[in-house]
Amino acid sequence: MSLTFTLDPAVDPVLRDGVLDLWTDVSNAGGSVGFVPPVTREAIRPELVKHLSAIAEGRTRLLVGHDGSGQVAATAFLTFNTHRLMTHWLWLYTVMVHPRHQGQGYGRDLLSAAEDAARGFDGIEAIRLSCRGGTGLERFYGSCGYKEVGRVPGAIRVAPGDDRDDVHLLLTLN
Ligand SMILES: CC(C)(COP(=O)(O)OP(=O)(O)OC[C@H]1O[C@@H](n2cnc3c(N)ncnc32)[C@H](O)[C@@H]1OP(=O)(O)O)[C@@H](O)C(=O)NCCC(=O)NCCS
Repeated sequence: MSLTFTLDPAVDPVLRDGVLDLWTDVSNAGGSVGFVPPVTREAIRPELVKHLSAIAEGRTRLLVGHDGSGQVAATAFLTFNTHRLMTHWLWLYTVMVHPRHQGQGYGRDLLSAAEDAARGFDGIEAIRLSCRGGTGLERFYGSCGYKEVGRVPGAIRVAPGDDRDDVHLLLTLN
């Protein structure tokens, strides 16, 4: 089985709920997508709304992976820069695969689809993202061609006494 990826799906209530469920399940399974467990759908919803308004304004493009039963199983948000000197690269945010589908190569498929999408955008020469250190994620991104280009020590406080590095990764599109 594989996921079916769609760039710019129609944002209807089914999609919104599917992404919110995915984000909640990934967060509660310990994923590094902006929250620490336990977290509710309602706590995450405002963050999703921010992404959705950026999509409505054309600043962000959504990539979704659906599984064989039509459920939202993976997402990545590709966000353009508004800074006039940084329009030649974009940010990748909220990269996630549902816990029941992890470890089967879908994460790599997701990043490959994100790379294809970015290559299709006029003038985009690189993809940048940041991730939480101490989780092994650098290895995942490394296996997809991303290079570590910076690290801010202890910038992410996941809990009192548990500070993690904010690791910056870059994929250049040549
Ligand atoms: C990170 C994530 C997207 C990877 O998706 P996945 O479908 O599980 O990954 P894949 O099966 O495609 O794995 C690809 C490779 O990365 C490795 N990998 C995946 N997740 C990893 C992790 N958290 N730590 C270390 N290595 C990891 C796999 O072992 C595999 O390497 P291999 O080919 O040498 O065996 C997924 O685990 C996830 O959604 N995690 C929770 C959310 C999260 O933390 N997102 C990152 C935001 S910065």
